[in-house]
Amino acid sequence: MELFEKKFYESMSSKVALLNRITYYIVNRKGKQMRPMFVFLTAKLLNNGQVNERTYRGASVIELIHTATLVHDDVVDDSNKRRGFFSVNALWKNKIAVLVGDYLLSKGLLLSIDNGDFDLLKIISVAVREMSEGELLQIEKARRLDITEEVYYDIIRQKTATLIAACCSLGACSVKPDSTDVETFRKFGELIGMAFQIKDDLFDYGEERIGKPTGIDIKEQKMTLPLIFVLNKCYKAEKKWLINSIKNHNKDKKRVKEVIAFVKENGGLEYAVKKMLAYKEEALALLATYPDSEYRSSLELMVNYVVDRKK
Ligand code: IPE
Ligand code: IPE
Ligand code: MG
Ligand code: MG
Repeated sequence: MELFEKKFYESMSSKVALLNRITYYIVNRKGKQMRPMFVFLTAKLLNNGQVNERTYRGASVIELIHTATLVHDDVVDDSNKRRGFFSVNALWKNKIAVLVGDYLLSKGLLLSIDNGDFDLLKIISVAVREMSEGELLQIEKARRLDITEEVYYDIIRQKTATLIAACCSLGACSVKPDSTDVETFRKFGELIGMAFQIKDDLFDYGEERIGKPTGIDIKEQKMTLPLIFVLNKCYKAEKKWLINSIKNHNKDKKRVKEVIAFVKENGGLEYAVKKMLAYKEEALALLATYPDSEYRSSLELMVNYVVDRKK
């Protein structure tokens, strides 16, 4: 990871001073770096602990694209905090955040192109397309008060799980380009990604300090699993009150707190946790089809971390 961090920072460099200032700001507030870890551990598991330059480049591309999407996501969600500090849009405004996101995306794609990693580029490009579609699907559907669980899963699969799926399939592809492991690990990553986003949506109902705002999903009229579950099982009058709260009082802090309390009282969080753990178990079962090794144990730790993490 130390070597990765060095390469990752180098991959962002630009001749434009303003861009360098912003990318310097971004890398100094690094995230959990789970995605590159999944890339490396998958490659190591499949190749007796050996990774190569393709693996490093793939990990950098994924983290570049992940960073780009967070910069854009905070514009889309109008969020002023990320990783415990001000978001790029909060400090430099939306105009600059949009352009910085585009810059990071293009740097990522070029890193693959300049090195002829076209098989990796294909995996990444599919993920980028799906993420954009997922974000738009969310805007189209997640505000609808009749959103179903199935649509919710489609949204999170596209906007989040496909990038984690890409991490694992890319890790596999970097060392075993034509093996069936590429598809198996895509599936593995997708399952982790589903659990990962359910956990992220659960954070929004908490009060813990996680380095980004909580309690904003209802304000933004974004229905996530705990609320969808409760909406579908409560009494008619309660449902009416919920819908009216979300539709007409979503900027009223007290009312939003009441909605959150209602979701909690009616088992919304427990239900989401149950679903999250089911995805985690499915991922672990897939992993168990591979022989035991230190890399497999590390991946198991990572999978457990996704659902136990505190931020
Ligand atoms: C946040 O991802 C975006 C989502 C898909 C929920 P992470 O929680 O992995 O972000 P960082 O990189 O650690 O900040
Ligand atoms: C994560 O979406 C960003 C993408 C997957 C593009 P969210 O908006 O749910 O994530 P956070 O909570 O801001 O990190
Ligand atoms: Mg968002
Ligand atoms: Mg967001």
